[in-house]
Amino acid sequence: DKGNHRHFMQKEIYEQPEVLSHTLGAFVDMTTGRTRIPGGQTLDFSSVRRIALSACGTGYYAALVGRYYFERYARIPCDLDVASEFRYRESPLGDVDLALFVSQSGETADTLASLRYAKGEGLRIASVVNVQESTIARESDVVLPTLAGPEIGVASTKAFTCQLISLAALAIHAGVARGVISPERELELTRSLAEVPRLANEALALEDTVEALSREMATKRHALFLGRGFSFPLAMEGALKLKEISYIHAEGYAAGELKHGPIALIDDTMPVVVIAPHDRSFEKTMSNMQEVAARGGRIILFTDAKGAASAGSDMASTVILPDMPEILTPIVYAIPLQMLAYHTAVQMGTDVDQPRNLAKSVTVE
Ligand code: F6R
Repeated sequence: DKGNHRHFMQKEIYEQPEVLSHTLGAFVDMTTGRTRIPGGQTLDFSSVRRIALSACGTGYYAALVGRYYFERYARIPCDLDVASEFRYRESPLGDVDLALFVSQSGETADTLASLRYAKGEGLRIASVVNVQESTIARESDVVLPTLAGPEIGVASTKAFTCQLISLAALAIHAGVARGVISPERELELTRSLAEVPRLANEALALEDTVEALSREMATKRHALFLGRGFSFPLAMEGALKLKEISYIHAEGYAAGELKHGPIALIDDTMPVVVIAPHDRSFEKTMSNMQEVAARGGRIILFTDAKGAASAGSDMASTVILPDMPEILTPIVYAIPLQMLAYHTAVQMGTDVDQPRNLAKSVTVE
């Protein structure tokens, strides 16, 4: 049932404040502000030397944010692969003690095969999964549930942001276990996470602004998405969302890679989506953005008030999100990117919930 929404995708985008709050509640005791492993399971990070993360598609981009979280907040080095590479690469696992998989369906063939490979190598297996009765959940030592509820739209939306909030809480939990996050800092970070539902609602309120932008996007054949640091995985996720439902060719790049190739594509017709909250990467991203502006690129900037004030006037459009702590930006900035893809696809008249050639659950290699 789509309720009063036109598509399941739109309905699922709007469910995010609620399902993010449910998911957070599994990982954080909201009365004490302390993180925990859901369902009374144990996952001791104090002796984990290295984590191998693996997933496909949107789950892979969530895992990429996860890597940034684990490295920043828990100081645990991470390896990351798309599952179809991990399983065949036969990488020496060295000091990896934990394999962490991310999957909405819990049935993705390559992710499952990677899990079995890691298990065969004697690793401890944890999985962030949305479908609790799935094969991946069953075969994992520790199940880290996202409580996004059933996701019907083929393009993942609410499952992605729920994966991010789970990984954020998990990284904090790991940081505490390793003594790199103090109990006070833990409370501060979980208080920040508790702001996500409110901030997600504020992001949803940008729908009309984003819809207006989608009119120009729908006239394009190509688009570039740029971001740095926490926003780099989002650039790739934003591009994936746009291409899979609107069929516009879109590429996500680390902003610093621009001059190593993709800048050749910039002319005065090329839309360039720049994701740049005013964080530690902001100034660097701005200089990349100026390189785009100098070549006439049509910049759509997603930033906050501080970012907008110091970004100059090179943009075709600017979307202003609320201020928020750095740990939250991937979760909240995902929402306008989902809406941009959604409204562009609606303008173009594609089948938003069932895009051509795609299946919700990829159970063949
Ligand atoms: C993109 C999308 C896919 C899935 C991928 C993995 O919107 O939905 O890229 O993320 O097929 O699926 P799961 O997470 O079920 O393993």
